[in-house]
Amino acid sequence: MIAPSILAADFSKLGELVREVTKAGADRIHVDVMDGHFVPNLSMGAVVVEGLRPVTTIPLEVHLMVEDPGRFLDGFVKAGADTLIVHLEVLPDPRPMVEHIKKALGKKVGLAFNPDMPVERIEPYLKDIDLALCMTVFPGFGGQAFIPESLERLRKLKALIGAHNPACEIEVDGGIGAKTIADCAAAGANVFVAGSAVFGAKQGPAAAMKDLIALAKQ
Ligand code: DX5
Ligand code: ZN
Repeated sequence: MIAPSILAADFSKLGELVREVTKAGADRIHVDVMDGHFVPNLSMGAVVVEGLRPVTTIPLEVHLMVEDPGRFLDGFVKAGADTLIVHLEVLPDPRPMVEHIKKALGKKVGLAFNPDMPVERIEPYLKDIDLALCMTVFPGFGGQAFIPESLERLRKLKALIGAHNPACEIEVDGGIGAKTIADCAAAGANVFVAGSAVFGAKQGPAAAMKDLIALAKQ
């Protein structure tokens, strides 16, 4: 499954581009939210989700790269988000928030973790989440190079998920493109976030989507 990250899109044509990748087979739209604290960059808020909601019928997943995700959950749900992804780094015990997102808000929940977090840290929570997001770059910016050690981390994560909750999706985010997607799939990932490889592609987003879909299947 491909989740194009709109961070790399030309914002003056956002609606049009989201329509294009939807038509080209995108499974969900990845919305990168940055607060300038958890990561050294600012990006977008709930108004963007609200604006995109009528543009596509595929799920909108919100990747909250923020220090205090609890403050923003309601706003994103009201705006039309389907999945909320929060970072393990800012949640000493993520269980209450995971429960809140699932039960009170009725949305899918993902837990993300950075490349320097031991994979085993997510193990106790796997049985309760819909998606584990293994960052394959340090978050904050699009267009960074994939960290090769991520493949070993993915294999570990895949084994843990096999033991605790095989239905939990394994998502990769950062530097995913034609050169890296097949290796990630072989290592166990099944959801692929791609920003620059889709919206920055010379051949255009639709053709890039087609290539990525084929490579992910191999
Ligand atoms: C990184 C973001 C990613 C980013 C990926 O901080 O979480 O979702 O948009 O961009 P690419 O695919 O260009 O590495
Ligand atoms: Zn992201």
